[in-house]
Amino acid sequence: MDITQIFQNNQQWLSDKLRQNADYFKELSRGQNPEILYIGCSDSRVTAEELMGAKPGEAFVHRNIANMVHNLDFSCVSVIEYAVKYLKVKHIIICGHYECGGVKAAMESKDLGLLNPWLRGIRDVYRIHQKELDDIANENTRYKRLVELNVEEQCINVLKVASVQLAVRQQGLSVHGWVFDISTGKLLDLQVNVLEKIEKIREIYHLE
Ligand code: CO
Repeated sequence: MDITQIFQNNQQWLSDKLRQNADYFKELSRGQNPEILYIGCSDSRVTAEELMGAKPGEAFVHRNIANMVHNLDFSCVSVIEYAVKYLKVKHIIICGHYECGGVKAAMESKDLGLLNPWLRGIRDVYRIHQKELDDIANENTRYKRLVELNVEEQCINVLKVASVQLAVRQQGLSVHGWVFDISTGKLLDLQVNVLEKIEKIREIYHLE
């Protein structure tokens, strides 16, 4: 991508929008009312809005390496808190993807410096599901399953947030675990049974 081209691209984009609707940006500037909070990977190939066909204003988005929800990550937890309490989103989506470099890097025994504590969360996912993962002989299949299990565990981490627990009960908020398959372009719903998961962890993480 030619960086000098970006402002021309922007001009072209806004002209196209205005041709379709002369008040497009006026309407957009009135405020946002998204129903979805999307938490996904920073990977440049996994573009949140484009793969969902979402328009500006429809999705509140947080992206980081390997779509992690670390409960001490102020940035991610603030996004969740704001989305749930003030935007009153109806859905929280954790979207992972196959071929995730973060997930692969986490499983290599290499010193990745500052990335170590970030990616350690994925090793924790492996530890929790070690039996199932060790039984998968094919390495590629094992990584794919780890991507899926990481999504499930991040759904659980979302459910540890007090405002989320309250909103699940009082606002009908739902949490979804998805995986984007880069090799086919398909979005897969892992059908994570969030209510069952919340029941299981309630005794330990119950806040609200
Ligand atoms: Co990734």
